[in-house]
Amino acid sequence: MARILAFTNNKGGTGKSTLCVHAAQLMAQRGERVLLIDLTSQATASSLYLEEAGSLLESETVWASLHPQQQRPLQEVVYSTDKGVDVVPSHSTMAEVAAQLAAAGSLGQDLLQQQLGPLVGDYDFIFLDTPGELNALTANALWVAQRVVIPTRLNRADFSCTEVTLRYIGALKGELTQARTVLTMLDDRYLPGGIWSGSHTGQLYVQAQQIFADVLSPVTIPDSSDLRTAFDYGLTVMEYRPGAVVCQRLLQFVEHEVLL
Ligand SMILES: Nc1ncnc2c1ncn2[C@@H]1O[C@H](COP(=O)(O)OP(=O)(O)O)[C@@H](O)[C@H]1O
Ligand SMILES: [Mg+2]
Repeated sequence: MARILAFTNNKGGTGKSTLCVHAAQLMAQRGERVLLIDLTSQATASSLYLEEAGSLLESETVWASLHPQQQRPLQEVVYSTDKGVDVVPSHSTMAEVAAQLAAAGSLGQDLLQQQLGPLVGDYDFIFLDTPGELNALTANALWVAQRVVIPTRLNRADFSCTEVTLRYIGALKGELTQARTVLTMLDDRYLPGGIWSGSHTGQLYVQAQQIFADVLSPVTIPDSSDLRTAFDYGLTVMEYRPGAVVCQRLLQFVEHEVLL
């Protein structure tokens, strides 16, 4: 039975897709059977894995599987890729699916869970990349996920969106034990003991430890220009620069938060 993880935050640009893709890729490199499902209109993960992602029809993507009036079997839109991760791509019009799911009310909340039924035995891990808002697609992902990873940057705006996200998960699932907040794009020099730890941003790290307490991951993801450049080339950072510091940290992230 696959372990299902959702990457979410009620905010765009916090590093959800980046962390989701790299975690999926690292698990595939360990020999695990991995499925990545992209639920976002940006289709960041889809484009990294599939050259043709931008030209797929709605009917060829997760759009058709989660549209309440279509419900195309999810197995029919799984694509195997040369990076070793199977991918269900998304479409730029996913917002329409979110609206249709919302209109279906509680009936629309577990459609992803139903669609995953025949697939959970075929994979060890299923990664769900969600939109930067708490819409009905996100609710479907949170509903079925056993672990929710919430990437957050070290600033007040991200903190408050992350708190809203945690409250939403608590209300939907009734508990937070499987939620983890991960600080991303964070220069190590701001961490305790670092030369910038006394700065305003350094103090925000201490506040994050208090605000998020038990749900804060001890692993932080450093700001990495290698990672940004790799994505521009359509590569993971492990392919682009395997010796980069960020690769080591991503490995620690999967050991702490994915393999548990
Ligand atoms: N650790 C990192 N270091 C540097 N840039 C990053 C890092 N993580 C993400 N980025 C960049 O930040 C931007 C937003 O990341 P993305 O994963 O698309 O966020 P989200 O999916 O939450 O909207 C992208 O340009 C991405 O390349
Ligand atoms: Mg994204």
